[in-house]
Amino acid sequence: MKRLLIVSNRLPVSVERRKGEIHFKGSVGGVATGLGSYHETHESLWIGWADVTSGRLDATEREQIRTALRDEHSCVPVFLTADDVRGFYHGFSNKTLWPLFHQFTQYAEFDSATWTAYERANRKFCDAVLEVARPGDTIWVQDYQLMLLPAMLREKLPDASIGFFLHIPFPVFEIFRMLPWRTEIVEGLLGADLVGFHTYDYARYFLGAARRLTGTDDHYGRITVDGRLVLVDAFPMGIDFPRYAEGAREKAALREAEQVRKRTLDRKVILSVDRLDYSKGIPDRLRAFAAFLERYPEWRHNVSLVAVAVPSRERVERYRELKREVDELVGSINGEYSTIDWTPVSYLYRSLPFPTLMGLYAAADVALVTPLRDGMNLIAKEYVAAHEGREGVLVLSEMAGAARELGEAVQVNPFDLDSMVEAIHTALTMPAAEQLERNAAMNRRLSRYTVQRWAEDFLGKLEEVKGAQTEHSATRLDDRAQARLVEEFAAADRRLLALDYDGTLMPADTRPADSPPDPRLLEVLARLGEDERTEVVVLSGRDREAIERSLGGLPVDLVAEHGVWIRGRRGDWVTIEPMGAEWKERVRPVLEIFADRTPGALIEEKDYSLVWHFRKVHPRLAETRVAELKEALVSVVADNGLAVLDGHHVLEVKVSGVNKARASHRWLCRDDETSFTLVAGDDSTDEDTFETSPEGVWTVKVGAGPTHAAWSVRSPAELLDILGVLADTLEGHAGAP
Ligand code: UDP
Ligand code: G6P
Repeated sequence: MKRLLIVSNRLPVSVERRKGEIHFKGSVGGVATGLGSYHETHESLWIGWADVTSGRLDATEREQIRTALRDEHSCVPVFLTADDVRGFYHGFSNKTLWPLFHQFTQYAEFDSATWTAYERANRKFCDAVLEVARPGDTIWVQDYQLMLLPAMLREKLPDASIGFFLHIPFPVFEIFRMLPWRTEIVEGLLGADLVGFHTYDYARYFLGAARRLTGTDDHYGRITVDGRLVLVDAFPMGIDFPRYAEGAREKAALREAEQVRKRTLDRKVILSVDRLDYSKGIPDRLRAFAAFLERYPEWRHNVSLVAVAVPSRERVERYRELKREVDELVGSINGEYSTIDWTPVSYLYRSLPFPTLMGLYAAADVALVTPLRDGMNLIAKEYVAAHEGREGVLVLSEMAGAARELGEAVQVNPFDLDSMVEAIHTALTMPAAEQLERNAAMNRRLSRYTVQRWAEDFLGKLEEVKGAQTEHSATRLDDRAQARLVEEFAAADRRLLALDYDGTLMPADTRPADSPPDPRLLEVLARLGEDERTEVVVLSGRDREAIERSLGGLPVDLVAEHGVWIRGRRGDWVTIEPMGAEWKERVRPVLEIFADRTPGALIEEKDYSLVWHFRKVHPRLAETRVAELKEALVSVVADNGLAVLDGHHVLEVKVSGVNKARASHRWLCRDDETSFTLVAGDDSTDEDTFETSPEGVWTVKVGAGPTHAAWSVRSPAELLDILGVLADTLEGHAGAP
């Protein structure tokens, strides 16, 4: 059966040891509560840390925890040592990534020791997944603590379906670039097939970072990584709507709400609930409330703020400082404004059982959700759901991901004290009809795009990506197939190897473009070419001089400019057929105009073609310009019998009918005794050759993606290994008749 493995740092349940006994309690935070609802109703297995350090447990206790988690919660624990927790969790995750990604750059620490712990812990999660994963499982990795995991899993399970979702914001590049390990993080995430974010902005920032750091351009969120399609998209996380809409109407919640009203003497209630985290803007909110009481004295006595702060990451100094700051602020506001029968702020520093939380939601006339920065914020959504069909006003920070979907909330910039004060006033004085109308509009959306829909949407997309990856895909040239290939090669009397150059023998992004080939490649090609029964032809899009500089000294045939020029191993360069180049005078000016107004673009002139290079052009601009350029070339191309070739970051204009496929047929379709043929290539210019190769030819695509080739290998290095093995079979035969 196809299973879903969810992997996150924190399990939806945490372990507690009370009086020597092990208990479980629900974890706090959006991942645990949101995805926890989905997990409860689906056949998934959740792998994560049970928030207890392994050093504190003996073997029996570990086993007890493992069994209980498996049987009662369908969870698998990852045990972390005290060192891991310090370096990975309190350290890199929460002293580096959390502040940086939430734009608190002043709090971010960059420490290579905690980075090492982060890598090590990600590796432990990887091992834990590998222990339970079965072929066909879908693996869904969650959040910033595990950003290296997708690539680690990809390495071990190359064909697995791997999704990643980031629950916090992804920062703009100017901030992200501060991270010394930024490339590793991007590469880690690109191990997934689908990378999801709460908002479109976060997705774009990530794509921007990927482009700048790894040179991978996207096309509508699709990028190709080592030939594998990866999709990056936005999926705004929802809530388990009925749980909150109905939960607020349940007896326990209503009783709780009644209590709250009694305690606050039927005054208006403003509620705020957060983990005690600096990203949540709690001090700014308290200051705004105090300023509100100052500006609108008529509200003193008539409104109370109930502020719930759930303890979080208390081992991190910054969180302890925040606790002190909040304690002091609450003390000073209450000190200044309290009267005998009125306390302006009721402050609770603890986590609440579900019915109590629901009672508070239900009792609150206003929810003040004003984070300075928040990936999504589920509290805002839960409050609105708890007010389905009822009054209640949500004041929501523009800086929360949820603001995109909750447009009817009173939105506020949490850094603007004045507007916060006015927002509180607007909320408290909003007519009932307007409150109902706004809530109805938001609830229509929340009840449709629930957390179940969110998860299904994400997993559905992941399946689509996997489907697109395998469409037209070649079979991997695995060990068994390789053994057959080698056997056929060794047994053949005459062999032909027709090999593309860039991207096939040389890594695609070799820079500078004319850097010399790896000596091992030269050595292997030389050994193969020297064998009298083996013929090697290298087909390249490069011009004659360039390919001759790289391979000219080898006993191999060469094809340059996609088939314009041919050079036998002993002869001179000849053109296949006489061609004119007058057309260039008509095409060059068009290319030049486009190059002039496109920063980064340049023109290359080959004997029988003109090439417009746009590798260095901003991808958005390049997309537009390429479309415009093709449009501008239509008539000149038609009048002169030319063809426009879409290459890797290039647009090439050349005489039509000249291509590698046609050139390769000189070798492939010869009526001779050749009994073994291998054709290898990597991009669209090789596809025609694959498609028209005679039966029995070994067609091999380097890299993944749709192809007409029958077989695929991952990289030029892998192809070179195979060629090396073929060359080894010649030992002792070289030069033999
Ligand atoms: N929550 C909880 N116990 C509490 C208070 C809150 O379980 O005492 C839950 C709350 O219902 C919500 C989650 O914690 O689902 C907080 O998620 P949010 O996205 O708002 O913030 P995060 O803590 O993930 O940054
Ligand atoms: C945020 C993060 C989660 C995390 C939660 C609670 O929601 O996105 O990954 O689990 O906060 O934080 P904690 O450090 O207690 O797991």
